[in-house]
Amino acid sequence: MEYLISVILAAGEGKRMKSKNSKVTHKICGKTIIEWVCKAVSESGINDTVVVVGHRYDQVKQVLGNKVNYVEQQEQLGTGHAVMQTQTYLKDKEGYVFILCGDTPLITSKTICETIQYHKENDYAATVVTAEVDDPYGYGRIVRNKNGDVNKIVEHRDSTGEEKAINEINSGMYCFTIKHLVKALEELGNNNSQGEYYLTDTIQILAGKGLKVGAFKAADSTEIGGINNRIQLAEATKILNTLILNRHMESGVTMLDPNSTYIDEEVEIGMDTVIYPGTILEGKTVIGEDCIIGPNSRFVNAVIGNEVEVSNSIILESFVGDNTQVGPFAYIRPGSKIGSKVKIGDFVEIKKSVIGDKSKVPHLAYVGDAELGRNVNYGCGSITANYDGKNKHKTVIGDNTSVGSNVNLVAPVVVQKDVYIAAGSTIIEDVPENSLAIARSKQMVKANWVVDRGMQRKEKK
Ligand code: UD1
Ligand code: CA
Repeated sequence: MEYLISVILAAGEGKRMKSKNSKVTHKICGKTIIEWVCKAVSESGINDTVVVVGHRYDQVKQVLGNKVNYVEQQEQLGTGHAVMQTQTYLKDKEGYVFILCGDTPLITSKTICETIQYHKENDYAATVVTAEVDDPYGYGRIVRNKNGDVNKIVEHRDSTGEEKAINEINSGMYCFTIKHLVKALEELGNNNSQGEYYLTDTIQILAGKGLKVGAFKAADSTEIGGINNRIQLAEATKILNTLILNRHMESGVTMLDPNSTYIDEEVEIGMDTVIYPGTILEGKTVIGEDCIIGPNSRFVNAVIGNEVEVSNSIILESFVGDNTQVGPFAYIRPGSKIGSKVKIGDFVEIKKSVIGDKSKVPHLAYVGDAELGRNVNYGCGSITANYDGKNKHKTVIGDNTSVGSNVNLVAPVVVQKDVYIAAGSTIIEDVPENSLAIARSKQMVKANWVVDRGMQRKEKK
């Protein structure tokens, strides 16, 4: 097989992001910018990638791990200088290199593949991915000769008035025949307005040797857009989110309002599920078929069964079984496993707990570090007191047990199956099967007390 490698330039600082973090590690639909670039590269069949890192390279390495190779560019002396750092991957190699910038998340594998094919078919020394744009300000301009091949790329800063009028721009992505690139890099200087080694100058060097340089125009100019600031980050998010939503709608998911729905790249949703407005599905969330999700709900790495209804609720890192109802206004925190045909009602918080099938926690309750069996009823206002100020403790409630309203379950405590707990009880000791537990002080009534004391409450006018 021929040698084919990609080089991703990501050493720059990205000052305009105004961020403490590396520009390319900002996220779009659950993936960092540079992961989107890597995804397009690997989907185009390129298995070897070298990333040129510099500014906050620790963060870039943390994100991409050992899926790629790294070279460090200690001083950022320009895009040509950045590529020079990869020479151990290029020297004496017969084949092709595809160069991209780490900040162009919208590039598609289709464009990469087509560029490489076009490059080979025409036997070019280099092929530049270009685009025609209405406003070429800031970009390198493509200067073609009369055959339509490329003579040179002129940076905006270094361009003449006539060149500024060219609206075909350099995307910053290229396919090079490696041996020609290596040669051109040896001849590259930094005699320009920035005093930088411009990768773009290799084009003129190659053309000067009588080698052919091609331009491959991307079908859609949005593909080549780089992220330089938070406004462009939001624009790219809009574009990628729309693609994701469309993919789900095409596979049978209804969205009431795609404009207020945000779904990360890796989320899966079953057929005939309906998503109401204001829903945000993040991470590796998986939702089954025939569910009704939202409005105003947020899931992070949640796994949801079929025919589940969730309204106005948050579910983090938890499972929810088939035919279960959640919300409105429930908060299911990480590590929870909610069974099938369960009802988790309004203003209920569940934390790191198991709720058995057909159990109900209908309203205003806290269940933390607990295990509820099947068919449990957990009354309004009841809570697990799971934290003693130092450690967390577990509460276990058996099948078919009814926890009355406003019960405090002081953990660690085990309530066996088929038990009733009277409303208002504070349970501090284990309760055996088939019993009733009442743990509250006896009611006292002082007859006529109100009249004797003259304490009648009068309604104000
Ligand atoms: C570059 C091109 C320009 C093109 C534009 C497309 C050059 C000289 N110009 O300009 O023709 O229209 O991209 O967006 O190449 N980088 C490094 N090390 C460096 C310098 C840059 O790794 O020393 C990386 C950056 O992190 C970035 C990429 O290279 O990912 C492009 O650098 P940038 O400074 O944004 O180039 P532009 O001036 O935009
Ligand atoms: Ca740029």
